[in-house]
Amino acid sequence: MKKFNVPLKIRDMIVTDISAVKKLESAAFEDAWPQRIFETELDNGFAQYRVALELKSQNKRRTQNILGYTGVWFMVDQLHLVSIAIHPNYQRSGMGERLMFDVVDQANAALLPKIVLEVRKSNLSAQLLYEKFGFKKIGELKNYYKDNHEDAVIMLCKLDAHEQKIQSLIEIHQMQHPHLWT
Ligand SMILES: CC(C)(COP(=O)(O)OP(=O)(O)OC[C@H]1O[C@@H](n2cnc3c(N)ncnc32)[C@H](O)[C@@H]1OP(=O)(O)O)[C@@H](O)C(=O)NCCC(=O)NCCS
Repeated sequence: MKKFNVPLKIRDMIVTDISAVKKLESAAFEDAWPQRIFETELDNGFAQYRVALELKSQNKRRTQNILGYTGVWFMVDQLHLVSIAIHPNYQRSGMGERLMFDVVDQANAALLPKIVLEVRKSNLSAQLLYEKFGFKKIGELKNYYKDNHEDAVIMLCKLDAHEQKIQSLIEIHQMQHPHLWT
């Protein structure tokens, strides 16, 4: 586990964030989304995109460095986690987990009892993150990813069943990474 004492602020993504998010996305994913998808998604009333920002003071000016982001869709009876990424230079320092707590908050605030997602079969680090939150594999989608025809694993978390586990994770995370909860 790396240690960065970076104070993190999480807020909704806005149009002027897109170019920075795209850079992060290109660094984190091989099949990064084009700009227009982010523009469309920010206009989608059933979607919410969030960014994690490092707040820095430079030459008496406050700068905002986007280190991670998430995107979710609010479905009838579940939250769909569409995307989550942390800049590669900042991975393994607790930020992905911090953003997952934010996603759980989004589901709870919308009274949605489940979170569902798809993840590449080969993406074991992301699967371990989701399993930590109680996500279980419930199916596969063959040839789901266009770039290399990789299968997707579908994972589901029933929030009621994992409420206590997630609460304990929050308490441990807040002790280990207090700067990520500013
Ligand atoms: C998946 C991702 C968001 C995780 O973010 P992160 O900030 O590195 O994760 P954290 O440091 O918060 O780790 C939280 C947990 O995730 C799991 N994990 C994350 N990266 C891991 C790795 N490289 N190896 C093993 N476990 C890993 C562990 O369970 C870890 O808990 P632990 O520290 O107690 O072992 C990040 O690796 C990423 O952006 N990857 C590229 C984009 C991507 O694959 N997104 C998911 C698409 S479905």
